[in-house]
Amino acid sequence: MTVVAVLPGDGIGPEVAAEAVRVLDALDIAHDEHSFGGGAILAGGDALPAETLAACSASDAVLLGAVGLPELEGAAVRPEQGLLALRRELGVYANLRPARAEGIDLIVVRELTGGLYFGARGTRDDGTWFDTCEYTRPEVERIAHRAFAIARERGGRVTSVDKVNVLHTSRLWRDVVTELGAAEYPDVPLDHALVDSFAMTIVDAPQTIDVVLTENTFGDILSDVAAAVTGGLGLAASASLGDDGPGLFEPVHGSAPQIAGRGVANPAAMLRSTALLLRHGLGRGADADALERAIDRALREAPTRDLGGTASTRDAGDAVLRALDATPTL
Ligand code: NAD
Ligand code: IPM
Ligand code: MN
Repeated sequence: MTVVAVLPGDGIGPEVAAEAVRVLDALDIAHDEHSFGGGAILAGGDALPAETLAACSASDAVLLGAVGLPELEGAAVRPEQGLLALRRELGVYANLRPARAEGIDLIVVRELTGGLYFGARGTRDDGTWFDTCEYTRPEVERIAHRAFAIARERGGRVTSVDKVNVLHTSRLWRDVVTELGAAEYPDVPLDHALVDSFAMTIVDAPQTIDVVLTENTFGDILSDVAAAVTGGLGLAASASLGDDGPGLFEPVHGSAPQIAGRGVANPAAMLRSTALLLRHGLGRGADADALERAIDRALREAPTRDLGGTASTRDAGDAVLRALDATPTL
């Protein structure tokens, strides 16, 4: 039997996850919920409890709301560490972050388990604090393969984004991407851009961008920029995939503490992540298409506050279920 591990997490995470669970129920997909993030730290001291990791590893796909609690910012054990550990444990190195709007259809392919977020860090005796950015050839090759394959499938092209004018790891990145493209994807147009000016291009000319291939930190930042030009973080979904094992599906946004607990968060990013779970995690492409159409319709009928409307999280979820032609469950 297919089982989805649901990790609601913190802040607006549980609010938007509740709407995703109603969609899973409407599609008769079994799911169970597990403790994760700030709530898990406060309950037992661990952001990613062993039971939660075991359930995720044994699942067919993992659906995550968001983590992050203001009171744990800067603490020794932080919710975000649990998220990084989960990504690493599941081996989901390829993070796909589509951004679509009128005239814009781009996808950020972000390397997710390397670079600055996973390198050695610490404080030296002389008082220097450091983080290190490291990449190996195989790490760059496998994410580049994903980006080229996606571009080939959609008849598009790849823009690889780096900082080769400054960073040593960007030299490796550019060389590996160039070599792989020439050797195995000569039919896929490839160009390179420097991350600073490319951030401007996303704002100025997003309609000219197709598949963006980039490393972990740049991808984190650029995907929020891409979200901003396509309707905001309330709409931005992601899929994190490895070579085998369950994928991890989560909105690009965080726990949004300023609006948490008020029932006003836009559940669309979470529901679009659920659609990505159906497509990439469970191989249910037709259900994914139907859900994406239902979300688009619901966004027109019941826009939430971030979109200038008045619909609550639940109202928006109801509209999606209606559009899916399912009876809302409570
Ligand atoms: P955020 O994404 O939580 O919020 C940024 C802005 O977008 C806020 O104005 C927020 O209100 C708005 N927003 C986000 N999601 C929304 C939604 N669904 N509907 C309506 N508005 C929405 O980013 P932040 O404020 O920088 O971070 C808050 C916390 O979330 C931090 O602890 C951070 O570490 C964490 N975080 C977690 C994840 C994750 O779990 N994947 C991702 C990003 C940030
Ligand atoms: C994201 C988030 C995470 C990241 C944080 C919370 C660890 O910002 O998913 O974009 O940087 O990957
Ligand atoms: Mn981010």
